[in-house]
Amino acid sequence: MNTKTPKNIAVFVSGTGSNFEAMLDKHIPVKLVVADRPCKALDRAKEVGIPTELIERKNFGVTFDRGLYTQKILEVLRTNDIHLVAMAGFMTILGESLFTEYDGFILNTHPSLLPLFKGDRAVRDALGAGAKETGCTIHIATARLDDGPILAQRSVPILPNDTTETLHERIKIEERALYPEVLKNILSGNLVLPHRVV
Ligand code: GAR
Repeated sequence: MNTKTPKNIAVFVSGTGSNFEAMLDKHIPVKLVVADRPCKALDRAKEVGIPTELIERKNFGVTFDRGLYTQKILEVLRTNDIHLVAMAGFMTILGESLFTEYDGFILNTHPSLLPLFKGDRAVRDALGAGAKETGCTIHIATARLDDGPILAQRSVPILPNDTTETLHERIKIEERALYPEVLKNILSGNLVLPHRVV
């Protein structure tokens, strides 16, 4: 399944999808959009005629069956012959089986300069910590949250009157430029992802 120069990309979304939109603007060939909930990004994919899969997560509590949910995701990826997953604001943590099967071929964008401020409150935490700068990180995702080899980062200043919203938007401007650039480099073979022979 894994290939050295992946061609078939699935983008995983949960929300606005401005990173997905930036990929479209930069002509990244997205084969499939996967969402865990109805969202603007999913609607946009439908509008532009990209195949979509809504694998709806209805349970956000402690009884959520992460393993089963991950199996459903894997089935969709296999059926669509997906080589590379680009998570772009996907807000469900997936199980280990995905990271084993797609080892090295799952990318994520995170709104901080990793390893600083992991988790889903990264922007708020950077602001609360009184940091002078933060940014975004494109990295290879692993089963450990917001971990894995870093491919690219960009920093932004934190300004005195920033709110979580103004700071997040400043970060997203950089993400929208950086993520498509990383994907282009992977597609052209300029950036070779580490390949595990199984
Ligand atoms: C992005 O800032 C991304 O880094 C963040 O969600 C936003 C999605 O924006 N991801 C996470 O926080 C993942 N933990 P978008 O829907 O406009 O692309």
